[in-house]
Amino acid sequence: MANETQKVFDTGQPVLSIDGLNVSYPVYGEDPVQAVRDLDLHIQPGEIVGLVGESGSGKTTLARSVMGLLVQPGRVDTGTIQFDGKDLRALPEKQLRAVRGKDIAMVIPNPRSELDPLVTVGRQISNVARAHLGIKRDEADQMAMDMLNAVQIPDPDRRFKAYPHELSGGMAQRVVMAISLVCSPKFVISDDATSGLDVTVQAQVLDLLRALVRSHNTAMLFITRDIGITAHFCDRVAVIYAGEIVEIAPMQSFFENPMHPYSVMLLAAFAHNPTLRAKWHKPLASAAPAHGGACAYAGRCVHAEDHCRQNSAELRELAPGHLVRCHFPVERPL
Ligand SMILES: Nc1ncnc2c1ncn2[C@@H]1O[C@H](COP(=O)(O)OP(=O)(O)OP(=O)(O)O)[C@@H](O)[C@H]1O
Ligand SMILES: [Mg+2]
Repeated sequence: MANETQKVFDTGQPVLSIDGLNVSYPVYGEDPVQAVRDLDLHIQPGEIVGLVGESGSGKTTLARSVMGLLVQPGRVDTGTIQFDGKDLRALPEKQLRAVRGKDIAMVIPNPRSELDPLVTVGRQISNVARAHLGIKRDEADQMAMDMLNAVQIPDPDRRFKAYPHELSGGMAQRVVMAISLVCSPKFVISDDATSGLDVTVQAQVLDLLRALVRSHNTAMLFITRDIGITAHFCDRVAVIYAGEIVEIAPMQSFFENPMHPYSVMLLAAFAHNPTLRAKWHKPLASAAPAHGGACAYAGRCVHAEDHCRQNSAELRELAPGHLVRCHFPVERPL
């Protein structure tokens, strides 16, 4: 699998280009929360990019900005989001709605809350196909049945007519995946989609999701808090901290040579090795990230120097395609 994942995606027109994106949530009587900062991300057709970061780092905010579905009072302050040559921020809501669900789809957790409890699952899939592809009921039902087969639902004929409450959590997640993929989107965002499932079901669902997007050459932004999942799953890994990408690299380069102290800390935490964790985890570190004239991670960084507390860091390419936002990148971390 490792060889297969090392596809090279550095040529041609990206399917999604995010440039200089800043997203904030105004807070009454206080400074706004800057949830995404100066973020650039370019994803090639068929490429799977893992986006890893702790809770509150801005992952969902980024995903929702792309979908044009930011939760109030969130707002995109500056930046461009180009999808397939279209400027998504400039599209009228009606056209954006046509793109959403058809060309860009989202797979999210809590599948039950996504599904209409009063409509059979087969119909829910075929309704999406009808709405976006303008096809007749029979054809859409057939597509829905094909999708139920593709997501490997056991006994698809019977499940077509089942209601959501009759499905297990893993099956409901597969149905949500079928809804997301039925129109063969060019780009899928998976936001923590399997986090509610138990580990074995999670592994099966992830393998399936990956196989499906690979077979359709669909690009994917795969959001997770679990850095371990990104190994072998993604072509590139991006680590986000306090709304900034702090490291982005081809998967192999990232795992062989992580260079940002935060990435190394995440990997050490994942390694379940107390010595390693103690080495990279700073006790009593300030929870609130510094910004404005400082590296955002300086307060929690085991290697921070005065320079880091006084100067923000830029993303720099330190190996081919491997960019790091750190004044003193880590060498030989573990
Ligand atoms: N509706 C909101 N109003 C105000 N602030 C918000 C809102 N939604 C998110 N935020 C803030 O924006 C920042 C990013 O939140 P976001 O939900 O994007 O993080 P996340 O990386 O998806 O976290 P998680 O892993 O928990 O899903 C956080 O500081 C959060 O408190
Ligand atoms: Mg989130």
